[in-house]
Amino acid sequence: MIIEVKQLTKTYGDRPILAGISATFSKGQVISLIGPSGGGKSTLLRCLNGLEEFDGGEIAIVGERLGPGRGRANARALAAIRGRVGMVFQQWNLFAHRTALGNVIEAPVYVKGAPLAEATARARQLLARVGLSHREGAYPHEMSGGEQQRVAIARALAMDPEVLLLDEPTSALDPERVGEVLDVLRGLADDGLTMLIVTHEMRFAREASDRVLVLHGGAIIEDGPPAAVIDRPQHERTRAFLGLTRPMLAPDLAPQIGLAV
Ligand SMILES: Nc1ncnc2c1ncn2[C@@H]1O[C@H](COP(=O)(O)OP(=O)(O)OP(=O)(O)O)[C@@H](O)[C@H]1O
Ligand SMILES: [Mg+2]
Repeated sequence: MIIEVKQLTKTYGDRPILAGISATFSKGQVISLIGPSGGGKSTLLRCLNGLEEFDGGEIAIVGERLGPGRGRANARALAAIRGRVGMVFQQWNLFAHRTALGNVIEAPVYVKGAPLAEATARARQLLARVGLSHREGAYPHEMSGGEQQRVAIARALAMDPEVLLLDEPTSALDPERVGEVLDVLRGLADDGLTMLIVTHEMRFAREASDRVLVLHGGAIIEDGPPAAVIDRPQHERTRAFLGLTRPMLAPDLAPQIGLAV
């Protein structure tokens, strides 16, 4: 298992945000994390790569263990996790003063100490892979949102992550730019990269992921193959979230407005 989460709990003040989450993910799996706003999706992702501390339980990811709070053991694990677990955010946050190529070589050169020529060659491969070879000299403000997000994905890939975590990678994009980013993610999925993606793109979740998890109120309320979870959800809250519930009408009112109940 490349990720194992055991009884993960987190509270803000006295509000439970993650209410004892347990799940395991195997290498090469593509998992979509869906669910209503405030359900804890971003918090879970941020706990997985150590951006957020938690109160109880345990996380094992890429062979490193994280426990509650901020101990010295966690600090060691975090350093290892940083280089091996990539993260892509809704807002891509590229370095504004660096070109597309400059953004992609940044971490390999300054964090890993890779030789510049080697990092540059690899960055060019990655930019080609996300369809942006022709934009390598462009600065973030000269690129569309979709292009910037693809650079952000190339930047995350430059560290050769074993796991890529993505938090709503397409939700800040214009609708016509969403497809180009999803195509890149489909390619990565086909290549066997382990990915955990928070998304509202149900078609993508259905077609490109091996597994769909629904998070609600800090708990996993569904977990299964996309067809099962999306087409035949078990939980009423999932049906409501997916818009599968029929309007709630008093049975005696329905005939009056021409609805069969
Ligand atoms: N720093 C914080 N302080 C207090 N509460 C927080 C903090 N960050 C998140 N929360 C709360 O934790 C809950 C879960 O938030 P989270 O961002 O994980 O939800 P989400 O499922 O990602 O929602 P969305 O779909 O809107 O992004 C929410 O109720 C949120 O208000
Ligand atoms: Mg979120």
